[in-house]
Amino acid sequence: MVKQTFKKHVTCIGAGYVGGPTMAVIAAKCPDVKVTVVDINAARIAAWESDDLPIFEPGLLDVVKKARGRNLFFSTDVDAAIRSADILFVSVNTPTKTFGEGAGKAADLQYWEKTARNIVKASASDKIIVEKSTLPVRTAHAMERILNANGKGIHFEVASNPEFLAEGSAVKDLLNPDRVLIGTQETKTGLAARKDLVDLYAHWVDRKNIITSNVWSAELSKLAANAFLAQRISSINSMSAFCEKTEADVSEVGYAIGKDNRIGARFLHASVGFGGSCFKKDILNLVYLCERYGLWEVAQYWEYVIRINEYQMTRFVQNMIQAMFNTIAKKRIAILGFAFKANTGDTRESPAIYVTKKLLEEQAHVIITDPKAIANAKIDLAGCKGTFEFASDPYAAVKGAHAIAVCTEWEEYKHLEFKRILKSMEKPAFIFDGRNILDHVRLFEMGFNVFPVGKRPLTHY
Ligand code: UDX
Ligand code: ADP
Repeated sequence: MVKQTFKKHVTCIGAGYVGGPTMAVIAAKCPDVKVTVVDINAARIAAWESDDLPIFEPGLLDVVKKARGRNLFFSTDVDAAIRSADILFVSVNTPTKTFGEGAGKAADLQYWEKTARNIVKASASDKIIVEKSTLPVRTAHAMERILNANGKGIHFEVASNPEFLAEGSAVKDLLNPDRVLIGTQETKTGLAARKDLVDLYAHWVDRKNIITSNVWSAELSKLAANAFLAQRISSINSMSAFCEKTEADVSEVGYAIGKDNRIGARFLHASVGFGGSCFKKDILNLVYLCERYGLWEVAQYWEYVIRINEYQMTRFVQNMIQAMFNTIAKKRIAILGFAFKANTGDTRESPAIYVTKKLLEEQAHVIITDPKAIANAKIDLAGCKGTFEFASDPYAAVKGAHAIAVCTEWEEYKHLEFKRILKSMEKPAFIFDGRNILDHVRLFEMGFNVFPVGKRPLTHY
């Protein structure tokens, strides 16, 4: 039975990278609200109940521990948690569709629709349904139709409250968000839902940073924000290709343009390419929607952001092959970092996957190391042909290697003992710094041949 001591009951369906941390922070900051996170994946729920959380996020365990058992609960009883909720966040996965109409581009909404039908079945009272997952624009409309055809006289008010947290800094982003966006209809029930959601976040977020809009603007803002962020990376990466041809230095260019307040300094780091579960998926989703509305030029414009990202990853591997005398067959290559970015174990769409697969096609012998992502790397590469192995110790990974490829910007890689590493490697020793995090001149002076992204290579030949 639900205790009546809480002012509100919040349930979140989907205990993943978004649902888990978001609800932990809501619970920690709103002791008067009971928060229940449910998932059909029992192993995931068990992990949320342990001290070995299913995802790695700096600071997350402390936040979870603060609220767990007090007003934060994890459960597999989805129906019970739906029934008791006043506000129901839906944070299930919306991957890119792999079949049928829109395959490879459109969002696969089957988990969402299944959840909506579950909500109808299990509910006995009015509820606010909040889209937390990133969804195609106007999904709320479709959901409202499914939900409100319930025949029980229950009213479901659908709101969009997209999550802007970035992995690796999820707790920081949730505690101190640039903004919280709440999209509702401007009807009486829509405005009442808006107030409830604003009040929830106002427990810890300054009201001036809680912005409201109509539902469609909120849905589109999430896709647009990710598209703009990814576009910045593809823009600087396109410049990196230009720099490599002209001896301009992409870090200097990024710094110089970022000093312009209108451009801003962040998200201008050239790299082997962007990864993560959101950017590619959301842009493809946007492209699909544009095509559906006949906006071909707009669709092509955004599709190119992904094309440049693929070009960047391909270029990285081509540069490796070319530098290593046009053959890497049987050569040992150590991949430093497999996560799609630092401070996470997540490898979804990680450029390291692409790089590794390309190296294996060239018959290189690949050794992968990462402080947090080896378990996921093993899943990603299961069934791949070729010689590859995993090493938790970076020094073991690089031993006897012809080359090192840095694919994730882990802080600890900056502080490795490179003299010791050089001694243990085959000569000539190569470093391809896909994140531009190392001290290239020092490494060159030590004896390495160094290939940064978007900068002149430093070679001894
Ligand atoms: C992104 C958005 O930032 C976040 O707001 C949204 O909610 C989800 O998608 P995330 O994918 O977790 O977050 O990480 P992000 O920090 O955006 O990095 C994405 C990728 O871009 C990573 O592979 C990262 O290494 C790369 N990147 C980022 C660059 O290559 N260069 C940069 O300058 C910044
Ligand atoms: P995100 O990165 O968006 O959080 P994840 O894949 O990490 O996505 O998490 C989504 C979660 O939603 C998964 O743990 C999955 O098991 C869960 N899920 C999917 N469908 C349902 C459903 N019908 N009921 C409950 N949980 C679901």
